[in-house]
Amino acid sequence: MKKNLKKSRKISLGLAAAGLLTLLGLLLVELQTRETAVRRFQDVAIGGAFSLTNEQGQPRSEADFAGRPMLIYFGFTFCPDVCPLSLDVMGAALETLETQNPKAFNALQPVFISVDPARDTPEQLADYLSYFHPKISGLTGSPEQIAQVKKAFRVYAVRRDAAEDPQNYNVDHSSFFYLMDGKGRYLAHFDHALEAEVLAQKIAAKLR
Ligand code: NI
Repeated sequence: MKKNLKKSRKISLGLAAAGLLTLLGLLLVELQTRETAVRRFQDVAIGGAFSLTNEQGQPRSEADFAGRPMLIYFGFTFCPDVCPLSLDVMGAALETLETQNPKAFNALQPVFISVDPARDTPEQLADYLSYFHPKISGLTGSPEQIAQVKKAFRVYAVRRDAAEDPQNYNVDHSSFFYLMDGKGRYLAHFDHALEAEVLAQKIAAKLR
């Protein structure tokens, strides 16, 4: 009887150990999957090469920003509400960053990329951006170039034509700030409705 008890205890201990090992194994698999997913998100999912024109009419590609982290916002200058608000937040966050973290501020290149290439000429971008922080650069391009950069950054933007006034169309678009590192790799994205101070803190934390 005693022997049997010992035996069954051994067996149950063995089973418990096997269960633990299985659990550990599953945990490892889970961790690896998550790590791969994160890596995929950082390296592949958001960002990449682009070929555009800045607000001065000069060609600009990702190579022109090498070594500088970028804060990117996609929008359009005729946007009635979301874009001006977002650019105000961006500008205020830049001012906060300038006083609280001048190193990050100096390194950072904020960029506004148009999702409305038909109306957003370089001149239009220059005029529009003069109402916001002077550090924000504008990028536009051909419809094909804009389609390519939108795809690279997983940006949603769809033109909504108004039947009665075809020139006065709207563009529905996603509204995020993308933070990329000096090698053009995705670091983070932030909601446009963040408070400027919070946005500045989050950017500084990522650029540390
Ligand atoms: Ni907008």
